[in-house]
Amino acid sequence: MDTYFRLLRYVKPYLPLFLVSIVLTFFYSLLSVIPIFLVKNILDDVFIQKKQEMLVLISYGLVFSYLLMGITHFFSSYILRYVGQRVILDVRNQLYRHLQFLSLRFFQQNPTGTLMSRITNDTLMLEDAIARKIGDILKDFFSLIALSGYLFFLSYYYALLSLVVLPLALAPIVKFAQKLRKISIRTQEYMADLNSVLLETFTGINIVKAFCMEDFEYNKFQHENRGVFKYNIRAARLDVITPPLLEFIGAVGGAIIISYGGFHVIRGTISAGTFMTFIIALFSMHLPIRKLNASNFSIQRALASAIRIFAFLDIPADIKDSPGAVELPAFRDKVVFDDVSFKYDEEPVLRSINLTVHYGQTIALVGESGAGKSTLVNMIPRFFDPSAGQITIDGHDLRQVTIKSLRSQLGIVTQDTILFNDTVRNNIAYGQHEASLNRIQQVARMAYAHEFIEKMPEGYETIIGERGTKLSGGQKQRIAIARALFKNPPILILDEATSALDTESEKMVQMALSNLMRDRTTFVIAHRLSTIRNADLIVVLEQGRIVEMGSHDELISAQGIYHRLHGLQFETVLKNS
Ligand SMILES: Nc1ncnc2c1ncn2[C@@H]1O[C@H](COP(=O)(O)OP(=O)(O)OP(=O)(O)O)[C@@H](O)[C@H]1O
Ligand SMILES: [Mg+2]
Repeated sequence: MDTYFRLLRYVKPYLPLFLVSIVLTFFYSLLSVIPIFLVKNILDDVFIQKKQEMLVLISYGLVFSYLLMGITHFFSSYILRYVGQRVILDVRNQLYRHLQFLSLRFFQQNPTGTLMSRITNDTLMLEDAIARKIGDILKDFFSLIALSGYLFFLSYYYALLSLVVLPLALAPIVKFAQKLRKISIRTQEYMADLNSVLLETFTGINIVKAFCMEDFEYNKFQHENRGVFKYNIRAARLDVITPPLLEFIGAVGGAIIISYGGFHVIRGTISAGTFMTFIIALFSMHLPIRKLNASNFSIQRALASAIRIFAFLDIPADIKDSPGAVELPAFRDKVVFDDVSFKYDEEPVLRSINLTVHYGQTIALVGESGAGKSTLVNMIPRFFDPSAGQITIDGHDLRQVTIKSLRSQLGIVTQDTILFNDTVRNNIAYGQHEASLNRIQQVARMAYAHEFIEKMPEGYETIIGERGTKLSGGQKQRIAIARALFKNPPILILDEATSALDTESEKMVQMALSNLMRDRTTFVIAHRLSTIRNADLIVVLEQGRIVEMGSHDELISAQGIYHRLHGLQFETVLKNS
């Protein structure tokens, strides 16, 4: 019930239109009784009493009523569809907007395929129900009312007698409703899983191929696809069992009325016209009932989708501007981690981190894989908030400043460079379509990317393919560096890739990086010896704790963990060269 009301709230902005359409539908249903009404006149007045002038009247009446029906039908349906589409537009926008602001944690917990399924599939179900089925339901419902009203007008007694079967006919519709909704929920879940498999295997197609996992992935796909089939078939069973059931119930009712009423026609207690009209009106009720049942199927499916959509809309954005958040002034002094701890689940990933980074310094974070380096830097843009302690920039707790003002001062170049399927130019000047080409070329030169970009088929206007698939690893990184240079933020976060760039490419990336780091405060997760050596402060993390801190020379002479890590890396570097 809540879901119904919540859906209605989306209709509210279009309420006048919606009401107009309902009124028109009502008129349409009234009009649709007229042709049946005319049957009585044809039989009684024309056939039996041979009134010729009635023929002309009836013909006009017929044409006119169908003309009016056509007009009301057109406008009522069109307006309703318009309202339905607007509602879907709003729901889809709202859903996308809401998801955008949910935290990274949410996106790590929900597969992209599922999210896509919500925004495309589930809203499609809603669309079907709101834009089409509501109109049908109204029409059928009003038709039933008009028809039964007419039955009573013809004969109270017969109407009561025949309408006794109506509850009998409606019972299975209501009974199947709940079942259908459950089935529909399962179907949509399988659809979402199916989407996930698709997304994963197509984006990772090279891995699938390299491991010859086509069959393995196919089996996964088949499993989900079977699930969709299984539940669709169950739904189909309910869907197709109802009409014959309804028909049978109708036939029984019809048989009773015909034998009883026929008897009275023979005896002359009611006119043949009245009786015929009555039968036609009664049988005309069959179609709306049947259509109501079909609509019910769509409505249940849509409700299941609505429930899922609302469930997403109800997830609060846990990382958002706090009330009274202020603009973070331009960074000029220091970033401080004050006793910061963090956990994703139960197990703490960072413990009591205390760290002060001054303006213009370069901080290198080193430590084994899984030590918590990425987690630590991800808290600066508030991708995650600390579980305990606080992070401040120039004394402002990050949770007390607007996210926008915070992130506008940060540049991030990550392990997996994210590029968009757009031109090189738009990837560098992300979100700034009016940026001058001059400036873009300038940062591309600093990022050592200008040369290879110029060599591309359409230079800066070349589309680089989804996630930059048309570029090499090093090229992608240099474009990402150019993007960060373009943004020109005072604070920089580099989560460097250990990915195997060849020496030439590595050298280029490194030169680009040193251009990027110049005059900035930089947090760098470094694997490159040179970056580490030149850092103002090296922080060694081990299992979420800071275990060593100091300059390269200090840490080497301390002969601790850094000394050991450095030794290991240095050996492999020597071995590789
Ligand atoms: N979204 C997540 N949910 C739960 N645990 C996570 C999540 N992300 C990371 N972890 C865990 O947190 C710990 C620290 O991860 P983190 O990514 O910060 O390590 P890292 O030092 O950057 O490692 P690497 O050098 O391999 O990039 C790891 O044990 C990891 O398994
Ligand atoms: Mg990492």
